[in-house]
Amino acid sequence: MALIRRAAECLRAGGLVAFPTETVYGLGAHALDRLAVQRVFAAKERPSNDPLIVHVAAIDDIDPLVVDIPRLARELAARFWPGPLTMVLRRSERVPDEVTAGLGTVAIRVPSHPIAQALLRCAQLPIAAPSANRFSRPSPTRAAHVVADLGDRIDMILDGGPTRVGLESTVIDLTSHPPAVLRPGAVDSGALRAVIPDVRFGPDRAEGGTAGLPAPGMLPKHYAPVTPLTLFEGDRTTAIREMVRAAQHHLDRRQSVGILAFAGDLEQLRGLRVHFLDLGSESDPAAVASRLYAVLREGDELGVDTLLARNITTDHPLSTAIQDRLRRASTHRTQSDRS
Ligand code: TXA
Ligand code: MG
Repeated sequence: MALIRRAAECLRAGGLVAFPTETVYGLGAHALDRLAVQRVFAAKERPSNDPLIVHVAAIDDIDPLVVDIPRLARELAARFWPGPLTMVLRRSERVPDEVTAGLGTVAIRVPSHPIAQALLRCAQLPIAAPSANRFSRPSPTRAAHVVADLGDRIDMILDGGPTRVGLESTVIDLTSHPPAVLRPGAVDSGALRAVIPDVRFGPDRAEGGTAGLPAPGMLPKHYAPVTPLTLFEGDRTTAIREMVRAAQHHLDRRQSVGILAFAGDLEQLRGLRVHFLDLGSESDPAAVASRLYAVLREGDELGVDTLLARNITTDHPLSTAIQDRLRRASTHRTQSDRS
């Protein structure tokens, strides 16, 4: 635990520490230290109007950060914390504007990863942590991704191996009425509806729970790879047929092609002279989620002219979040439903 102690000291001194959470790696800074938080934005090249999530060890630690804790927040915390749910609540004066981008609210989460928990408990600080990627790169799900994006810009990286979930937390705004999911994630709509029957999906621009702005993570193209990615949506048979046609079209023009393919599609794609990257089995969305960002990065590393992928069609709690991230990563989308 000497490493955790060193990391905690580094945070207390205003340093930047990347650490694993169950979702993705975070780039942590002392949340109440303005200068440290400014360094997070500089390292990531993140625009200052994109607020950060504050991580705490347990719900008892949120009192100094918020002005009131609605009953619903306690219910959600009892059900989903520690875990991949972020709640947007009214902030207290103690939270610096740098963290919240000047909003009247603050996003808070209790991560479940043992290293994140150990770090929070050792440092005894709220830790502001966005995903530890350079702005507009896929979130890091392995320590090597953090090294690639930020290695020379931060003080320490705690390597906890690949993260389990692989997609960022679900963000829910409890300051709007009814509460609104600003970003789909591992805590799915069904689980939230069980606690909040009238929960909305997508930001409410009219009511201004978040000053009328969508969460910046909701901006299209937030996670885009450098190589253009065309996403084929809709039923499997038609999407595969369209994808094969598109691949052939590029190959005829002597362009190199990479396909992010589900294992079950390979049989039908065999024979195409393209690079394949394995998204895993479509019938196992948890496995697809955990490797999605690594595969998007590998897609860029192929150095091909274009990337193609088919969106997941299975009905599973994680499918909405996977679909959302693949859409954001894509430069073009085609809808190929037979209906
Ligand atoms: O799983 C996760 O949430 C990871 C790990 C490290 O915890 N963190 C993460 O942070 O994904 P980041 O900064 O990449 O995404 C935070 C999202 C952004 O979409 C941001 O706009 C939104 O949370 N957010 C933060 N504070 C907010 C606020 N006060 N109101 C509305 N949205 C907010
Ligand atoms: Mg991010």
